[in-house]
Amino acid sequence: MHEYSYTNNVLTGEGVELRAVAQEFGTPLYVYSKQSLLDHCRHIERAFEGHPHVTYYAAKANANRRLLRLIAGEGLGADVGSRGELYLALESGFPPDRITYSGVGKRDDEIAYALQRGIHAFNVESVEELDIIDQIAARTGTRARILLRVNLDIDAGGHAYVSTSLRQNKFGIARQQVASVLRGASALPHIEVRGIHSHIGSQIIRGETFLRAAEALVAMVRELRAAGIPVHDVDFGGGFGVQYRGYVSHPLLPVEEPEEMNLSASSLIKAVLPMLRETECRIAIQPGRSIIAHAGVLLVKALYRKEMEGKVFLVVDGGMNDLIRPSLYHSYHQIVPLVVEERSHETVDVVGPLCESGDFFALDRAMPRVQRGEYLALMCAGAYGYVLSSNYNARVRAAEVLIDGSRVEVIRNRETIEQL
Ligand code: LLP
Repeated sequence: MHEYSYTNNVLTGEGVELRAVAQEFGTPLYVYSKQSLLDHCRHIERAFEGHPHVTYYAAKANANRRLLRLIAGEGLGADVGSRGELYLALESGFPPDRITYSGVGKRDDEIAYALQRGIHAFNVESVEELDIIDQIAARTGTRARILLRVNLDIDAGGHAYVSTSLRQNKFGIARQQVASVLRGASALPHIEVRGIHSHIGSQIIRGETFLRAAEALVAMVRELRAAGIPVHDVDFGGGFGVQYRGYVSHPLLPVEEPEEMNLSASSLIKAVLPMLRETECRIAIQPGRSIIAHAGVLLVKALYRKEMEGKVFLVVDGGMNDLIRPSLYHSYHQIVPLVVEERSHETVDVVGPLCESGDFFALDRAMPRVQRGEYLALMCAGAYGYVLSSNYNARVRAAEVLIDGSRVEVIRNRETIEQL
């Protein structure tokens, strides 16, 4: 599971020195550990203790083809949110009947493509979308399996931008309308109603939140059946929080306390599974972050150490265009030097090269005093890292490499300026 650690004061991934990887492939660089990815997939699958289910990996967390292929190889399915993700999932070996399609804004061509490829189901977000799927299925001579996404109106905590199940969020159908919408859906000739779906948010770190969601879903299945509406599938979504703070430690680094969280993906599955099993439905989940976050790190190089009126800025060669999470959600990523040695600590802002004050990786962070030319790792950057990167300021997207034992393989070339 935990493939990154210090060996003789040098940060390694699967035993490979990351400093050598940074020197060979340049920075900014996304590095992934194959073993960590496989372990996280297996950890989640084992938590089901043999109970039939499907884990749909949320491809939006990281859609690198090589990583998708590894996940497909573990027997997981995929949840996609666009035609591009569906294409990548199919190309990477996910069988169509192990693919679901979520999202509030599915375009007509996207729906037609998914129908034509025979995916398992659409997670539907509105009445209008249902009608459109029915019409497109009629036109293409197919029948669409659907789950209705329910807005449970549960406060999942965390950053407002990643909360998805509050009444004011754009997602899902209000609880009170679910029965009538499903009844209407069953009457549509080209729709096959499979069940209900909920995804309450992301980076949720309190187990109770999921227990409440599971209770609400199970109660809803019961009510729907009592009203004569069959329910075959329950998809519980993703959102399982992961540890970001204090992921690696070393006696010469400032102590970083892990965040207070009372769940791991597997403990959570074990807690909610008995409830979901009561429904005797086909059970599914859609984790993204908890599969890929810990497998990846972003390596950057220190360019300048700048002091201004008592404040220290550490300017590095990666920015919000490479990893936007700190700027967008004030997310925390542990930042550590690839080589530790005895030196003083100081409080710094770790900032990128872009022309925005919002371009930072950390504010007021205790760090060892870093010199120009040193490499740093932003830990737990495997999820929502590369996929959210951009060409802002006409900067090229980073390269991605995969550590597999002692081998390091380029799994995406660095963009070139000619490609801009
Ligand atoms: N299912 C659906 C329908 C989703 O929208 C998402 C994520 C997932 C599953 C997977 O959630 P996860 O297990 O990864 O939490 N960019 C933000 C996170 C956005 C999540 C969007 N939806 C971040 O960097 O924190």
